[in-house]
Amino acid sequence: MAAPPPSASSAAPPRDRWFHGIHAHSIPVPREAGASAGASSGPDDASGRSLALAPPHALRDLDAYGTLREKHHRLTRGAVRSMYRDVRERTLRALAGLTPAQLRAKPEPSLNPLDWGLGHVAHFYEFMILRLLLAPAQPPNAAEPSSSASSADVPAHASLLGGLHDAHALFDSFRAAHDDRWRPADVAGTDPTLDEIARYLDAVTAELVRALGPETPENDRRALDPVSSYLHAYGIVHEHWHVEDFIQTRQTLRYPRPRWTPASSDGASDDRVESETRGAFPFASAYRVLVSDSAGSRPVDPSVRRYACDVAGGFLPSPSPSSLLSLSLSSEKEKERGGGAFPGYASIPSGRYLLGATPSDKWVFDAERWAHNVDVPAFRIAKAQVTNAEFAAFVRAGGYENRALWSHEGWRWVASERARRASEDEDAVKSLAEDGAKKDVARDDRPMAPRHWTPRSDASRTNAPEGGPGGVLDGWRVASFDDARPSPLAPHAPVTHATWYEAEAYCAWVGGRLPTEAEWEVAARTDPATYGAAATGTCPRREYPWGDAPPSPDRANLDGFRGGATDVGALPAGDSAWGVRGMMGNAWEWTSTAFLPFPGFAMDFPYRENSAPWFGYRKVVKGGCWATSAPIARAGYRHSFWPEMNAVYCGFRVALDEKNPSANPGVSKL
Ligand SMILES: [Fe+2]
Repeated sequence: MAAPPPSASSAAPPRDRWFHGIHAHSIPVPREAGASAGASSGPDDASGRSLALAPPHALRDLDAYGTLREKHHRLTRGAVRSMYRDVRERTLRALAGLTPAQLRAKPEPSLNPLDWGLGHVAHFYEFMILRLLLAPAQPPNAAEPSSSASSADVPAHASLLGGLHDAHALFDSFRAAHDDRWRPADVAGTDPTLDEIARYLDAVTAELVRALGPETPENDRRALDPVSSYLHAYGIVHEHWHVEDFIQTRQTLRYPRPRWTPASSDGASDDRVESETRGAFPFASAYRVLVSDSAGSRPVDPSVRRYACDVAGGFLPSPSPSSLLSLSLSSEKEKERGGGAFPGYASIPSGRYLLGATPSDKWVFDAERWAHNVDVPAFRIAKAQVTNAEFAAFVRAGGYENRALWSHEGWRWVASERARRASEDEDAVKSLAEDGAKKDVARDDRPMAPRHWTPRSDASRTNAPEGGPGGVLDGWRVASFDDARPSPLAPHAPVTHATWYEAEAYCAWVGGRLPTEAEWEVAARTDPATYGAAATGTCPRREYPWGDAPPSPDRANLDGFRGGATDVGALPAGDSAWGVRGMMGNAWEWTSTAFLPFPGFAMDFPYRENSAPWFGYRKVVKGGCWATSAPIARAGYRHSFWPEMNAVYCGFRVALDEKNPSANPGVSKL
C-alpha cells in the first residue's frame, strides 16, 4: 500500500480481460475536465472559476438505449448539495477509526478491501457522473461518441486520480477482478496510497460540487435539468450502497463497530464530524470540501446542511446522521418503540397487483422497469421475520442434517459449507500447533448454523437467559464486530447472515415457503380497503409500509445509528396496512423470486451493470437493513443478493398458501 508507484517503464503491462464490462467509459475525456478546468459555458463557482457543462441534450444523445430521455424529475442544486453532505458524513462515520492495514483488509470472497471501496466510489463519481456532466456535445443519435480533437492526446485512463495510476484497472468493479483488488501493483501496475485515494475523492467531490454552481440561496433554489439531477443522484445512491457495504465489512472482519457516536443535539456539526475522524482517517478532508467555500473558511447555510434528502429530493423529517445520533436510544422512547416477539400471520386475499415502477415515478432503477400486473393468489405472511430463537429451534431439530428440507442446490451448499468450515478449523489447528498452543481445536464437528453463530463454550455456561438451561439458544453465542467474547443471541431479533438456502430449508421445516416478490409488496404496499379480487391492478401503492411519510426512527430501523437489529416486535408505528411489522429496515428479506428483468427492461445509462449481469443468478431481496441509509430505502426498491451470500444483514419471513392453511405443522414446534 505504501510503496511508491513504479516508473512507467517498470509498471506491469495491463492484463487483458475476458470481460471489460459495458460501461460508458469510451466517452472521450474532455481536456478541460479536472481541477484545471477553465473555459466555460457553465455556472461560475464562488471563486470565479467555471465549468464547461454539457447541455442536457448532449447527455441524452450519448445514451444509445434512450433511458435518459425518460428522466423527468428535477432536483434543486441545494437539495443535491445536501445529499452530498449527508452521504459523505455517513461514509466518514462508517470508516472512521480504522487503520490503513484494516482498510486494506484481508482477502475474503464476500468483501472488498475498504480502501478499494473508497477509490471505487471516487471512480464511479468521476466516470459515471462527472465525465458525463462535462462531456462535450456529441452529434445527435451518435451510437458511439466520436473522439474529439480536445481529447486526442489524453490517455484513455487519464483520471483525477493522477500520477501513473490507471483508475479503470484499479477501481472499475468490472475491470478489477475481485481477487486482484488486494494486489493492485501486480495487475494495474501501481498501488495508490491511502492519501492518494483520499485526494482522489476530494478532487472528484470538489468538481461535482463546483458543477452545481455557486452556493447562494438564489442558485440553490434553482432546479437542475432532469438528466443532471439523475446523474448526481445516482452517484450519491451508489455511495450510500457502499456505506452499508463498509459497515457489513466491519462485521465480517470483526473490526470495531462504526464510530456512530452522538454529536451535538442541534444537528450536524461539521467541526465535530471532522474532529472525530481527524487522525483516524485522512479522508476527513473530503468532507471539508463539502462544507466550506474554496478558501475553506465560509460555513454553509446550516438549514441546508442539517437535513438529509431522499433520492427524489424530499427532505426527510429525520435530520442528518449526526442529529439522529443525538436521539437517546436507551431512553423511554426506545422502550415505547417496543420489542419482543410478534407472532402470527396476516391473511391476504387474492388480487391483482401492479409490480414495478411506472414512468411517472420520480426515481426508477432499471430492474424496476416497468410496472406490470401480477395475479396473486390468496396467501398468508408472517407478521414478523423469523427470529434467532425460532431458527435455533430449527438447528436443534437437526435441520441441517435433514436432506428432505433442502433443495438440490441448498443441499450442495450445505456440503460445501461443511467442508469449508472443516478446512478453516484445520487451518486453525495448524496455526495453533505452530504457535505451540493447544491442539484441541474442534475439527470437523463444528455444528452448522448461520454465519457468526458460535457454539457456546462450557466456560461461558454460567446462565441461560434464553428460555433457561437447555433453551434453544443455550448452546449459541454470536460474534459481533470486535467484541472480545461472543455474546448471547437476542432471542427475538431477526436471524441474519443466513443464506437463501438456509431460509428456504427453514420455511420447509415449518411447512411454509418464502414469499414471492409480489406477495411481499402486496403485504407492504397495499391496503385491505382497496386491494382484493375487485382490484383492477391500479390500487394505490404505498411508498413505505406505513404510508407515504418518510422514514423516521419510530417507524424503521435504518441509518445505522442503532448499531444492530431490534426485536421483531419493535416499531409498531412502521406496520403495514395488513399489520405486518418490520418490512422496512432491520434486516433485508429474502424472497423466493429469481432476479430477472421485468417486461420492458432496458439497461440504464450510464451504469449498465447495475442489474443485467446478475439476472438469473441472484434472488430478489426487499426492505433494507439497519445499516441501510434512509434516503434510499423504499418498499418498491428491487435489490438482489447471491443465494449463498451470508455476509449481509439479510433475514426472511415465512409465507403460507391460503388454500392449504394447515400445512404448517412445524410452526407448532416453536
Ligand atoms: Fe460500487
